[in-house]
Amino acid sequence: MNTITVELAANAYPVYLGRELLGEASAWKRHLGQGKVLVVSNDTVAPLYLEKLKSALVGHPFELHIIPDGEQFKTVETWYGIIDKLVSMQARRDASLIALGGGVVGDITGFAAASYMRGVRFLQAPTTLLAQVDASVGGKTGFNHAQGKNLIGAFHQPSAVFIDVDTLDTLAAREFNAGLAEVVKYGAINDATFFDWLEQEAGAIAARDPEALEYLIRRSVLNKAEIVAQDEKEAGVRALLNFGHSFGHALEAETAYRQFLHGEAVAIGMVVAAGLSELRGLCAPGQAARLATLLHHHDLPIRIPANISIAGLSKALELDKKAVASGLRLVLLDAIGRARVDDSSSKSEIVTAMRSNRDGPTHVKQEN
Ligand SMILES: NC(=O)c1ccc[n+]([C@@H]2O[C@H](COP(=O)([O-])OP(=O)(O)OC[C@H]3O[C@@H](n4cnc5c(N)ncnc54)[C@H](O)[C@@H]3O)[C@@H](O)[C@H]2O)c1
Ligand SMILES: [Zn+2]
Repeated sequence: MNTITVELAANAYPVYLGRELLGEASAWKRHLGQGKVLVVSNDTVAPLYLEKLKSALVGHPFELHIIPDGEQFKTVETWYGIIDKLVSMQARRDASLIALGGGVVGDITGFAAASYMRGVRFLQAPTTLLAQVDASVGGKTGFNHAQGKNLIGAFHQPSAVFIDVDTLDTLAAREFNAGLAEVVKYGAINDATFFDWLEQEAGAIAARDPEALEYLIRRSVLNKAEIVAQDEKEAGVRALLNFGHSFGHALEAETAYRQFLHGEAVAIGMVVAAGLSELRGLCAPGQAARLATLLHHHDLPIRIPANISIAGLSKALELDKKAVASGLRLVLLDAIGRARVDDSSSKSEIVTAMRSNRDGPTHVKQEN
């Protein structure tokens, strides 16, 4: 078992990473207080992994709350259901909530922990690659409003995160690949050496080689922890984690969240943002193509589908909550491994970058 510490100003917390961690009683014991324990999971993950967790919680009687599976249930009703359960258990301020599942379970359980009695203890057991490398670390919690994703939320850091790599054995290929998009993102914005490694080991990663997976998750968590430690509430450097996300969110919104998984939309978004960086002369030509080759290796989409209107995407981009009034604020690349927040792209440069991407990375290169 590996331990990575997320160093925050007010508190630090461990991220445990290893195999058979869900059943590791000693690690869980360290982080459960005297109060009542509520495990929140969904109807897909609980049948797969609740027994393992149960074996680690002996001596800690807990209650279980199952929510339906899917992003469409990341709602006020589901959040209220968790609160209701806590009330009916007569949970007090010393209660602990454990989220067992992907990012949806983690985000909504985290917000229930943030809001119940103004904040109770929260433990994460992420079971998707995306949740392990991204959602479970950093303390963003919340749920969706009909008008937009994650509109209601709070920062509430977990007391500990338990990443059991074994849980990835049952994860569908498409979900696994979508998680890889965020992994590639860390290499692109902050870690050139990691990006090289991801290129070299692409075959082993696709085959889910156990050692490659553990290393990839560890290095991703280290990258995220390093960035979050510098800027817990996203006043500065944390914004770099949004690389590919403005275009990605626009693609998700334009397709009514039906066509792409989040990581898939981000994959396309990163290639567009890299293309724009080249067009702006911020980075050397060829970076968008390099990024696209790596993403494509993992069956991730890299082009804006021809049926999606660029005008519609532009409009959605302007509505993105991360945009600023003075100009569209985007994360652009100086090189693979180094990114910046920039708000000086003109509308026509942004549109050109999107148009070029529709014909694929080779064409992006030619246009520059
Ligand atoms: N808080 C953050 O910083 C942050 C960061 C990124 C994403 N998110 C949020 O995370 C959510 C997406 O997370 P996700 O991609 O994990 O989606 P998800 O939670 O919907 O999980 C994807 C699917 O995989 C299933 N699943 C989970 N673990 C499994 C396993 N081990 N084996 C088989 N199936 C399994 C789930 O039941 C679900 O059907 C979004 O709501 C997004 O907003 C939050
Ligand atoms: Zn993301």
